[in-house]
Amino acid sequence: MGYKAPKKDGNKGGKYENGQIVLVREFQPADKPAVQRIFSEGLMEMIPDTAFRGLKHHPESLLLYATMTVICFAITMCWWVIGLLPAAVVCLRYFYSRRVIHGYLRQAMSRDMEDIEGCYMKSPGSCLWVAVLQGKVVGVVAAVGRSASTVELQRMCVDQRHRRSGVGFALGQKVLEFAVVNRYSSVVLGTTAYTPAAHLLYQRLGFHCVGVTNGYVTPGARQSLLERIFYRVRHHHYSLNVKDSKKLSNGHH
Ligand SMILES: CC(C)(COP(=O)(O)OP(=O)(O)OC[C@H]1O[C@@H](n2cnc3c(N)ncnc32)[C@H](O)[C@@H]1OP(=O)(O)O)[C@@H](O)C(=O)NCCC(=O)NCCS
Repeated sequence: MGYKAPKKDGNKGGKYENGQIVLVREFQPADKPAVQRIFSEGLMEMIPDTAFRGLKHHPESLLLYATMTVICFAITMCWWVIGLLPAAVVCLRYFYSRRVIHGYLRQAMSRDMEDIEGCYMKSPGSCLWVAVLQGKVVGVVAAVGRSASTVELQRMCVDQRHRRSGVGFALGQKVLEFAVVNRYSSVVLGTTAYTPAAHLLYQRLGFHCVGVTNGYVTPGARQSLLERIFYRVRHHHYSLNVKDSKKLSNGHH
C-alpha cells in the first residue's frame, strides 16, 4: 500500500483550513472538557434533525399520524382537531427526540466520555483523537476494535464553527490510518443522522452503506409506547474495506 504511520503517534495528520494547519493528534487529559462540549453540542443537533427532518423519511409514521387525526376527527367531529393534532404531533416528536437524545448523552457522559483515558487510550485496539486548530480542539473521533479484523469509527464530531473545512475528513483519515497500522481489514460505523453532511463525509472517505435498520433502538431509550410512536429513527450501517481504500494518503482539497 506504500503507507506507513506510527501506531499511536503524537502529532501526525496535518490538514489545512484556510491555510492554517489542522493537527490531528491523540487525546490528552486536558482535552476532556472540549471533547465533551463538542460531542454534546453535536448530539443536541440531532434533536431537531430527528424530530423534524426525520419525519419525511418515515412514511409509516406519517400514515400513523394521519390515521390518528382521522380517528380523532371521526370521534369528536370537531374541525379544529385537523389543525391541532398535527401541531401536537410535532411538539411530541420534539419532546421525545429530546428525551431519548438526552438519555443517550447521559449514558455516554457517564461511560466512555467520562473515562476517555480508560475506554479509548489504554486498549491497544482503540484510540480517540482530537483535531486542533490554532491550539484549540475543534473536532473529535474515536476508533474501537470490535474483533481481530474489524474496527468501529465512533464519536465523529466537528465544532460547528469549523465545519466544511476538511476537519471531519482529516479525522476520518486518521481512523483509516489506524486500521492499516493495526491490521484491521474493515472499518465499520453506524449513524442515525438525517442531515446529508455525515453521509457525504463517510461516502467521500470511501465507506459504503451496507444496510439500514428502521426502528433502531437508541441506547438510553426507554421504549415506552409513546416514545415508539413519536421517536423513530433509521440506523445506517457503513463499512469500508481497508485494502480497497484509496483515501489514506490523498489530501482533502
Ligand atoms: C459530519 C461532520 C463531522 C462533517 O465534518 P466537517 O469537518 O464539516 O467535514 P469536512 O469539511 O471534512 O467535509 C468532508 C466532505 O464531507 C461532505 N460534507 C461535509 N459536510 C457537508 C455538508 N454540510 N453538506 C454537504 N457535504 C458535506 C463533503 O463531501 C465534504 O467534502 P468537500 O468539502 O470536498 O465537498 C460535521 O458536520 C458534524 O460534526 N456534524 C454533527 C455531528 C454528526 O453528525 N456526526 C456524525 C454522526 S455519526
